[in-house]
Amino acid sequence: MDEIVDEIWNLLHAGANVGREHSPFMVLQAATVGVDGAPAVRNVVLRRASREDRSVTFHTDVRSQKVTELRKDARISIVGSDFESGIQIRLQGIARIIEDPEKTKPAWNLSRPRTLIVYSTPHIPGTPVASPEDAYAKTDAGVDGESVGFENFCLIDVRISKIDYLNLYSTCHVRASLEHDGERWRGKWVAP
Ligand SMILES: Cc1cc2nc3c(=O)[nH]c(=O)nc-3n(C[C@H](O)[C@H](O)[C@H](O)COP(=O)(O)O)c2cc1C
Repeated sequence: MDEIVDEIWNLLHAGANVGREHSPFMVLQAATVGVDGAPAVRNVVLRRASREDRSVTFHTDVRSQKVTELRKDARISIVGSDFESGIQIRLQGIARIIEDPEKTKPAWNLSRPRTLIVYSTPHIPGTPVASPEDAYAKTDAGVDGESVGFENFCLIDVRISKIDYLNLYSTCHVRASLEHDGERWRGKWVAP
């Protein structure tokens, strides 16, 4: 079981380390409870994984629907998959919305300008626009050290309490259910 825990965190670290290594865990799917109670899911780029903090982090717009949902109900479920090796990792945890500029600025500064353009739009994500081009502000965020849209940029840090691991391509299907007891991950094998 300890090896499974190692494998999970190695895969998540690799996912957050894209640019230096290829990983299918670069993009994860994050599910929240919609404001109307219906499930809501979307792709997010894994920006940081910390085994020590048992957390994963992604970037988003404070005005987005997912942030509204997380302010109402901080529970979040995340899934990542490697279809080549048949591995699925599901995470359950509590999301913290980090807006403190002292904490968000380093992540903003490390992001590529192209990825920051979305934050510069005056339109709240999801509002109707006349054409796709109309969604964007004239100035590109991050270009020449500018910080247009920085106020809309936040981090979502997810403290993970449960992990469900599945490997379909092992000699037999392997599924493990892990829970953190405050000190360490405790796992049990479960039927796939
Ligand atoms: C490959 C891919 C990666 C994405 N990464 C992010 C991300 O890291 N953060 C984010 O807010 N949206 C990301 N998106 C867009 C979201 O999936 C979603 O469309 C958007 O955030 C609005 O979601 P919401 O209305 O549920 O808040 C990504 C989309 C794709 C296709």
